[in-house]
Parts: sequence; structure tokens; C-alpha cells
Amino acid sequence: MIYLDNAATTYPKPEVVYEAMLNQMRHSGANPGRSGHKMAIEAGRVIFNTRELLAKLFNINNPMQIIFTSNATESLNLAIKGILKAGDHVITTSMEHNSVLRPIKSLEKINIENTIIQCDEVGFIDSEQIRREIKSNTKLIVMTHASNVTGTLMPIEAVGKIAKEAGIYFLVDAAQTAGVYEIDVKKHNIDLLAIPGHKGLLGPQGVGVLYIRDDLDVMHFKEGGTGSKSEELVQPEMLPDRYESGTPNTPGITGLAKGIEFIDNIGLEKIRKHEEELTQYFIDELKKIDKVTIYGPMDSKKQAAVISINIGEEDSSEIAYILDKVFNIAVRPGLHCAPYAHKTIGSFEQGTVRFSIGYFNTKEDIDASIDAINNICQQL
Ligand code: ALA
Repeated sequence: MIYLDNAATTYPKPEVVYEAMLNQMRHSGANPGRSGHKMAIEAGRVIFNTRELLAKLFNINNPMQIIFTSNATESLNLAIKGILKAGDHVITTSMEHNSVLRPIKSLEKINIENTIIQCDEVGFIDSEQIRREIKSNTKLIVMTHASNVTGTLMPIEAVGKIAKEAGIYFLVDAAQTAGVYEIDVKKHNIDLLAIPGHKGLLGPQGVGVLYIRDDLDVMHFKEGGTGSKSEELVQPEMLPDRYESGTPNTPGITGLAKGIEFIDNIGLEKIRKHEEELTQYFIDELKKIDKVTIYGPMDSKKQAAVISINIGEEDSSEIAYILDKVFNIAVRPGLHCAPYAHKTIGSFEQGTVRFSIGYFNTKEDIDASIDAINNICQQL
């Protein structure tokens, strides 16, 4: 199988990720932070170590500001619903995933206003558009770092600056960029950062991360056992316990640590360069095929390694089905849980066939995809 669905989840993972998870379950599979025996302490150590690795990667001072969740969607829900209160206003963009749009829309019923800024036809937004929408009750700006439909990179540094100047919180959805692009919570003025463990960070599914800046008042939605202050019937205030009730996904967090260590060893720069090269090569080859429409910036410096296309008027699901069945190529068709992004780029009816490249893809994978697309075009 040629796997080009890395925007949904990266595959494969580095071998060390699989090995470490199995070893953790076999040899120190105890409940972390609950008991004082050696196995529990070892499990707790692994979790703290992962927080430290994440803190280093995203330039976060205090690893305790890093919350483990089950995925980036949970992180985004916690951040959006935990920050906003009745009467507040939130700004976001038309390129967001439903994990941002649905929580924001659901808050309308408790009188939380939103502005969804229209991006241009390749998904770009001018940061000044955001500045213009700020009102006296604007509390939060939520923006993806890169579209999961077109890969379009968003100006997080400029928007972070605007948010800081205006005294507004800035939440970044790093679903498509963490582990590939530099994200520095200080340099980019990020107050809240939502990250999936299973995409660019090369960990397993089932672990997400939310960074919460110091002194931010984010409401918690879970109460329960934390292994701390057990004599009290109220949820502890200290982080990360305030948000982390219940047994964590220790095997998943163990795997995530190995994914991050792998990235550290290779270097973000090298990973990004590899993905950029394959992205540009793919785009350049696609441009030579008459029946193909390419969406997005068509420039690997302006987009993450996500390339959406259509072939004539063909249904995107049909094309993905043929790619899978006949050519053994895995892609994702349809709307990618981002309906406004498709409306923005003009593909809402047809959806798109999305190819998303990861670190383990090769030029041969791209050549095979181009051959397959040429072949499909000739059959139509
Ligand atoms: N959000 C993921 C995607 O874009 C699942 O495919």
C-alpha cells in the first residue's frame, strides 16, 4: 500500500514507537501517579518525560502546563468551551475543521457570538482582516496553523501579535503542523495550543495535547480521581491534575515520547524539507495533467504537505475508491470534516481527493500516484 493519508494520521510510525508501547505495557504497565510501587513510579516517569519533550519542542517553560487529552478535538473543545463565557465573542476563519467550527457554533445557544472570516480561494487570510473584526467583547481568536484540506499555511505569528496587542487569547490548532513546522508558543504569542499525538508527532492514536498558558482561567469539564488531594471532594486546581482525571493512556503517551524523540533526532528542518520537496514535485507533475484541478496555494513554501485535487467533474470518492482498489494508494476524499474550507475553495459539491505526504513517503510514491492519476484520466 502506498500511504498518502498522513493528514488523517501518519503511517507508519517509527519502529521505536511500536516497541516502546509494547514494552511499557509488558514491563511497567501500572497506573501512574496512583501508587508508590516501582512500576507505578516508572509509568509516572514516562508521562512526565513526555511532557518535558513536548515542552522543549514547543518552547513551553513549565511542562505542567501541558495537558493530555484523547485527541486534538478534545483539546480544542476544552480550550474553546473552557475560555468562552456568555456575552463573549470569538473570531475564527473559514478554513477551520469542524473540531473548531462545531464547538464555536454550539456556543451560540449560550449567547457566545462568533465571526468566521472568509479566506480567499486558496485559503489565505490576511491577518489585518482579523484585526478589523476585533470588538470590545472579543475574547478569543482560534486559527488553524495549516488547512487540512489545502495545506494553506496561516500567519500565526502575525495573528499572535495582533491578539497580544489587543489583549485577546490566541488558540492555535496545530493538527497539521506539529512535528513538522516550528511552533514556539512564546515567539508566536500562543496562549493555547491544540496538538494531536498521532499525526506529525508520530505517536499512536488516542493521545492529544493541550498547552494552557500560565494563569489562564480555563474551565475544566471532568472531575474525578487525580491521585492528588484525595481527601478533598473538589477537583484540585493545580495543573495538569485540574484537567486530567482518570487513568491516562500511558501506552499511548509512551509511544508519543518515542515519536518526539525520533523527530528530535532527525530535526524538524530535515523533516519539513523532505515533505516540501515531495509536495512541490507532486504539484509540478500534477500541473502537467490537463484534467486535474489542483486546489490551494500550489507552492510548497505556502502549504503543508497536503494536496487536494479533482479529476474533471468526477466524484472525489469514486477516484479515491479506484486509487485504493486498483492502484493500492490510500488517500482521503470528500469534505475532510471542513465544509467551510470546501466552500471557500469552491469544492463543496464535489469534495476533493486529498493526498497528504509524510516523512516516510518517497519520490517513488509520488511517481506511482502520478502514473495512477494519468491512468485514471485516460480511462475517463
Ligand atoms: N482531521 C483529520 C483529517 O483531516 C482526521 O483527515
